[in-house]
Amino acid sequence: MNNKTQILMIGNLDTAFLSNEKYDIFRVAEDAVETVDINRDYEIAIIGFDVDESDIFSLLRKIRNCFDDIAMIVLRDSIGDILADEIMSLGGTDLVVGVVGDKVLECRINNMVKFAQLLQRNNCLVNEIERRGQEFDDAQLDIIIRLGKAAEYRDEESGKHILRVGCYSRHIAEKLGMEAEFSDMLFLAAPLHDIGKIGVPDKILLKPGKLDEQEFEIMQRHCNIGVEILKHEPLGLEPFLKWQNKRLSSGMSKNPLLEMASQIALSHHEKWNGSGYPQGLKGTEIPLAGRIVALADVYDALRSERPYKPAFDEEKCLTIMRDHSPGHFDPMVFDAFESLIDVFDSISRLFGDSGKAVDQVVA
Ligand SMILES: [Fe+2]
Ligand SMILES: [Fe+2]
Repeated sequence: MNNKTQILMIGNLDTAFLSNEKYDIFRVAEDAVETVDINRDYEIAIIGFDVDESDIFSLLRKIRNCFDDIAMIVLRDSIGDILADEIMSLGGTDLVVGVVGDKVLECRINNMVKFAQLLQRNNCLVNEIERRGQEFDDAQLDIIIRLGKAAEYRDEESGKHILRVGCYSRHIAEKLGMEAEFSDMLFLAAPLHDIGKIGVPDKILLKPGKLDEQEFEIMQRHCNIGVEILKHEPLGLEPFLKWQNKRLSSGMSKNPLLEMASQIALSHHEKWNGSGYPQGLKGTEIPLAGRIVALADVYDALRSERPYKPAFDEEKCLTIMRDHSPGHFDPMVFDAFESLIDVFDSISRLFGDSGKAVDQVVA
């Protein structure tokens, strides 16, 4: 690999003082900057003394457009304060004014090269941090969905149910004007609403008929079991990690996503009129995330086929939900849902359990 500093030279500066062993110099006429190979890794651009003053600004812009990280030195015999300010504000990295010796000029160029290299390194680090952040987000989503699926796996519901509930919930939150942070988190947290079903015995969870009172009481426990799984508390990992000489770098701080998921697990069967479970909360005592997921969960259950019922069409779902609306759902959430009915319909078709081809596009 070529380790020489790549210099883009505009103008007729005599560069004999720059050693061929250290520098590769590419000259380009001031009216031909667009023809420069943008794939070349230029570290520094020099705009020579002879370049017309009126061309400097457009040159700076053009060079910066082609090369994000390049350092740009402008050489001038003399210059006014205003012009100097403008050159620097347009991304000039250094300004050399007046007669300077070759040694000084080489030193200035070297300084700029070091500066450009630091900038490049910094940009690489920023990209790396962004990449790792994205990897972390992807891994988090992956784990959450698999965790949600583990719960649904034992139930009659499909893995897509939890994803659809996440989608519906996000749309409602957005319609209600919630911030993106809340809506995005809800999309990830909603799929965990029934994680507590992991702790419900099969004979109750999979019972084909109606649950009797005692069985229903046990079934209701899935809300609190969900909280037990998701709530913030030390996981008891420390002794294990210490024993392996590993430092516990995370896991002890509260995870807002899991906090929201825990809130939803506890409250997604609460009803607006206070007749829900497990706490019998009423109205706005029920966290908003729980009120939203409650509706999304019911809608998806109605739209989906179950062993005990067929999948209902949009109209029937709406009729059933309207009938239950006054007592069951938060009226504000229900209004948002009604205004999104076409979007909900599209989601249920696009991501239906049948896996049939998509015939609509979500608006
Ligand atoms: Fe549930
Ligand atoms: Fe569900």
